[in-house]
Amino acid sequence: MNLSPTEQALVQAARAVRAHAYAPYSGYAVGAAVLTDDERVFAGCNVENASYGLSLCAERVAVFSAIAAGVRRLVAAAVCTPDGGTPCGACRQVLLEFADAPEAFAVWIVSPDRVIACYTLADLIPHGFQRTLER
Ligand code: THU
Repeated sequence: MNLSPTEQALVQAARAVRAHAYAPYSGYAVGAAVLTDDERVFAGCNVENASYGLSLCAERVAVFSAIAAGVRRLVAAAVCTPDGGTPCGACRQVLLEFADAPEAFAVWIVSPDRVIACYTLADLIPHGFQRTLER
């Protein structure tokens, strides 16, 4: 697969942040990165908790980090797992909230050493819940 320099930076950010995953319960470290409409990259890792249900996925940490920095429009994401895992349903819905154009929003699925797949967000969450809002 051919990645642009921006896409390579996005994938690299997802791979790098995975080193910070706090996943002592599952042992499944995930890194994620999102690309903003003005070409900035925000990264996140999964953060687990002894009370398992409080754990947060890497994708949501990345999205919320971007939102906390004032971002409102995302255009792509990358997710790095050991085995090519794809985002869970909750994270797909959260990505959709801030996706500029879901049918053009690339979600890169990568491992530490391979690009495994690329889906559009529209393919990952068809008919997701959406409302029209001013942001
Ligand atoms: N996890 C993510 O961070 N992203 C995903 O896309 C799927 C799952 C995390 C949640 C939990 O910390 C661990 O991976 C195992 O499910």
